[in-house]
Amino acid sequence: MKKNIVILGTQWGDEGKGKIVDFLSSNSSYVVRYHGGNNAGHTLVVNKKKIILHLIPSGLLYPNVIGIISNGVVISPFELIKEIKMLEENGYFINKRLYISPSAPLILPYHIQMDLAREKKLGNYLLGTTGRGIGPAYEDKIARRSLQIGDLKNKKELSRKLEIIVDYYNSQLVSFYKCKPIDYKNILKDLLEITDFIYDMIQDTTNILHQAIKDKKRIIFEGAQGSLLDIDHGTYPYVTSSNSTIGGVMTGTGLGPKNLDYILGVTKAYSTRVGQGPFPTELFNDVDHYLSTTGQEFGSTTGRKRRTGWLDGVALRYAVKINSLSALCITKLDVLDNLKEIKICTSYKNINSLENYNNFSNVNLNNIIPIYEVYPGWMKKTSGIKNIEDLPQEARNYIHHIEKIAKIPVDIISTGPDRLDTILVKKLFF
Ligand code: GDP
Ligand code: IMO
Ligand code: MG
Repeated sequence: MKKNIVILGTQWGDEGKGKIVDFLSSNSSYVVRYHGGNNAGHTLVVNKKKIILHLIPSGLLYPNVIGIISNGVVISPFELIKEIKMLEENGYFINKRLYISPSAPLILPYHIQMDLAREKKLGNYLLGTTGRGIGPAYEDKIARRSLQIGDLKNKKELSRKLEIIVDYYNSQLVSFYKCKPIDYKNILKDLLEITDFIYDMIQDTTNILHQAIKDKKRIIFEGAQGSLLDIDHGTYPYVTSSNSTIGGVMTGTGLGPKNLDYILGVTKAYSTRVGQGPFPTELFNDVDHYLSTTGQEFGSTTGRKRRTGWLDGVALRYAVKINSLSALCITKLDVLDNLKEIKICTSYKNINSLENYNNFSNVNLNNIIPIYEVYPGWMKKTSGIKNIEDLPQEARNYIHHIEKIAKIPVDIISTGPDRLDTILVKKLFF
């Protein structure tokens, strides 16, 4: 019986984490977002209705689930409220069952302005961020100058701290980036207007989670982004500014590794990436066109076209290793239905030498060519299949190849965007 489960992405994000968190939440008490911010876009489809969440944990569509946004998340309070209201409009009432850590740093308008100004200044060398102020907000945290959600509870201090930090940002925005200055009084006014709305949600989330563990409640930890976007272990500098790999759960919540029972790596049956940065298996041909149209590969947060490529087995093994993954969930298998042949990259070859590589972390990704294994496609419809026995033999073989390459089992397969389009290969806790 798996008690506490981490669900995280093994690629560059958008693996379908939100769908799987939602699917597994029916049997859980708590769902926790522990890092990142509203750069995430997690898509849930229930009864043909699509809901995209950026900050709110994906399990909250179930009325009994309690949501936690813990200390590791950077929070735009204005976007948070927009999202709560969007859920209410869709019939989901969550504000009495959402708790937010007082230590979570705030994302405020100057972070967003700085993010955008920096990208503009970088010109062709831009990172392709989501423009949500994520990098600057995490910089403030590390530099020990963040305003935190808990600061909303002390109006006088909030005003004092805000004036100082806006002054600091204006000095750069105006003189270096040639932007208009920001008036801290406008931000203060907007913050004071929303404080009452979130006041009671601000709770000691570390304590709540430790109590939940004592009470033997099941907790799901919902990763954002993907392992290869991790600030320490990803394709730096083309990464996000938080730890999307397993360590982020501990630092981002105040729980320890012994509190985690099962770590599920969500992996798309092929690869995608939004924004700049190396992508060894990237495709620029008709297969790219096929994957992006059939897979609807457009960003859930920014609407940008996602770059597409074959599954990268070298990168996948790396993600298995650095996250201590227990098992994989393969999503979007149905997207491959009409391909005559399907490839997986199993090693890299250096373009300047005969050397073959079997690792990801120490290779200059701009200097390699991927080596592929080629498998026959199944050319049959798999979308909506719910039992492993109903998958075509070639599709089951493809899953076995992934298991062999990753050296861990595939416990879940997703065959469509809907919550119910899911194959549970192994009984987890249902
Ligand atoms: P996340 O950020 O990891 O939660 O993933 P996103 O929601 O950004 O992107 C995944 C996209 O694929 C969404 O549009 C989902 O509705 C969709 N999706 C998830 N699983 C499947 C699947 O098995 N098949 C298909 N066709 N679409 C899926
Ligand atoms: P989910 O949770 C895909 C990418 C951006 C950019 C880089 C840095 O939906 O999987 P940032 O705004 O974080 O400073 O941007 O990271 N990125 C994502 N790509 N899915 C995401 O989240 C992402 N969050 C950030 O495109 O390349
Ligand atoms: Mg996404």
